[in-house]
Amino acid sequence: MANSRWAPDSWRMKPLEQSPVYRDQAMLAETERQLAGYPPLVFAGEARKLKRALGSAAAGEAFLLQGGDCAESFGEHSADNIRDFFRVFLQMAVVMTFAAGSPIVKVGRVAGQFAKPRSSDMETVGGVALPSYRGDIVNDIDFTPEAREPDPRRQIEAYRQSAATLNLLRAFATGGYANLENAHRWMLGFVKDSPQSERYQGVADRISETLGFMRAIGLDAESNPELRQTDFYTSHEALLLGYEQALTRLDSTSGDYYATSGHMIWIGDRTRQLGGAHVEFCRGVKNPIGLKCGPSLAPDEMLRLVDALDPESEPGRLTLIVRFGADKIEAALPPLLRAAKRAGRKLLWVTDPMHGNTVKTSTGYKTRPTDRIAAEVRDFFAICAAEGVHAGGVHLEMTGKNVTECTGGARAISETDLRDRYHTYCDPRLNAEQSIELAFTIADLLKAQRLAQPERPVRAAE
Ligand code: TRP
Ligand code: MN
Repeated sequence: MANSRWAPDSWRMKPLEQSPVYRDQAMLAETERQLAGYPPLVFAGEARKLKRALGSAAAGEAFLLQGGDCAESFGEHSADNIRDFFRVFLQMAVVMTFAAGSPIVKVGRVAGQFAKPRSSDMETVGGVALPSYRGDIVNDIDFTPEAREPDPRRQIEAYRQSAATLNLLRAFATGGYANLENAHRWMLGFVKDSPQSERYQGVADRISETLGFMRAIGLDAESNPELRQTDFYTSHEALLLGYEQALTRLDSTSGDYYATSGHMIWIGDRTRQLGGAHVEFCRGVKNPIGLKCGPSLAPDEMLRLVDALDPESEPGRLTLIVRFGADKIEAALPPLLRAAKRAGRKLLWVTDPMHGNTVKTSTGYKTRPTDRIAAEVRDFFAICAAEGVHAGGVHLEMTGKNVTECTGGARAISETDLRDRYHTYCDPRLNAEQSIELAFTIADLLKAQRLAQPERPVRAAE
């Protein structure tokens, strides 16, 4: 397979999982034609820059923070939402940078995370069967026949929302909001009186002090853009391949194809079949690619996927995002790490501690206990250390909002609290406080990882 010719549409000849059934094929074709004429959302050069950053994470010199909604929605598209997400993300990044003493690569699950794989094509409620909700880019979450009918025009809306979201994020990342001098101001109102607040203020105080010292010796944010801006990248699951193909462009600088729907795209655990359409599409675009690895992925199958997706062993090309669950990671992860090592593969290993830890409450809510999430992250670091592999990052489902979707945390959200503010369109997300709390857990692990390493020579910033 790896040797056969690739084209942006060669996936159409392969078995396709998780695809909506569009009744109006003419409208679908017209929509894809229209999208193909729209401007790209991201540039090839940016994707290459992210690839370099991920390559340094694979080499043990950086750490990936990837996170955002399980599914973005049309209904919750507002400046407030984007800002609240971004500021929590910045807080987490700053806490982790401080502890790791090395760069945090910042990648949002945002500005394109709209399509969802489902365990079943149909959903039955009270004897009525309708097509499953597949994300706002495909259909509407309401349980009516009209809402659940896949509508191609939603792809245009998803593109427009992605463009607007990305525009605001770019402004925040480079226009002053992300200036380290603002670290105190990123604190959200409702987090301010939380148990995490004091600890965060402590980190922010030390950053202020450091910046004051730097200013005193002539290094300030005006003359050092590194202090006042940050590189923030976007990512999503490349699930709806017609949309992805329409936004795939030939980069004139390199002569290579890039998916321009986001900087990084990943392949889900349900669509990672060798010889399937999703692997076929992703192998031909030069973006950084993520591969979700669940408990059913055998080591030899993983190696074949690695060969297909990263035939040239390019640093930063492939990120393996492992999502086993706190009860399975100890048995499942070492065989994958060892297989990669035997094959001489240096990859970026990242933990997704969300998807293997989903449970259903007796009252019917899908939730995730934060202690299980933290336990999987801790085990991930311990296993990587034991196997001599760099624990390279985390992949989280999180929001800047004060939702009640995951149980536990410093404010001890209980199963009966879930109904208060359970807003997710899909899986339960960490709220702002729970996210920051987890960032501190990760910070402690990063610090321990740094101290266990032999002293690295200090390198000049690039
Ligand atoms: N540019 C550096 C970085 O992105 C420092 C930085 C500026 C930063 N603003 C930030 C780090 C906000 C974390 C959060 O790492
Ligand atoms: Mn999810």
